[in-house]
Amino acid sequence: MALLRFPPSLSASSPRLSSNSSHFLITKPLIGGKEVHGVAMAKGSGGAITGLVFSPFEELKLRPEVAMVPVEADKSLARFKYSEKCEVAVNEQINVEYNISYIYHAMYAYFDRDNIALRGFAKFFKESSEEEREHAEKLMEYQNKRGGRVKLQSILMPVSEFDHSEKGDALYAMELTLALEKLTNEKLLHLHKVAEQCKDVELMNYIESEFLGEQVEAIKKISEFVSQLRRVGPGHGVWHFDQVLLHGDAVHG
Ligand SMILES: [Fe+2]
Ligand SMILES: [Fe+2]
Repeated sequence: MALLRFPPSLSASSPRLSSNSSHFLITKPLIGGKEVHGVAMAKGSGGAITGLVFSPFEELKLRPEVAMVPVEADKSLARFKYSEKCEVAVNEQINVEYNISYIYHAMYAYFDRDNIALRGFAKFFKESSEEEREHAEKLMEYQNKRGGRVKLQSILMPVSEFDHSEKGDALYAMELTLALEKLTNEKLLHLHKVAEQCKDVELMNYIESEFLGEQVEAIKKISEFVSQLRRVGPGHGVWHFDQVLLHGDAVHG
């Protein structure tokens, strides 16, 4: 760690004051002719200065944890108020997104088979798989942004058969998708809770603005798909639904 050093002229020089009603403009000359300005509030009716509202250089002297800049090659310089607990929780969510992406990819492969041939479902699940991978990547980017370290974990082998004797494959796969999206939502809420416990407002805001709203939208959309598939029934109904998925823009988010 290296402690920031301030120009000697800053601490040595006495400030020049110019008054403007209740404010004073403080001017401190720096090396090279440049000046640093700060605003001090005068307290009381007499206009006497009782203390600076914000004096960054003085505060930094008292806050070594803020002023310290790591010099170790393996340490993040950007990391600031980012707890290990949050770092672990973000890595866990990356794993959740990858797992879901993998399952949707298996569904894509299933519906793309020549003896299944529901090309709309295949397209939908391929795009959904890519979407989940994008979520994982977004969280990886975020992890690095906060100075955490991305640690990828194992992904479970998904099932490869999605037929169901009563429901048929289309409805069964869509119901499974709905359950997975709800599970993802639960995991995101858990991540948000960890951020809250750690008082990490930045992470809370990130999850709220980038993930939670989209997740609610996805759950609504998949719920509608399940209802529509129940309504149309198997056989020709599913073929028609598949055509809508094939020619429409039905990425679930
Ligand atoms: Fe996701
Ligand atoms: Fe999703």
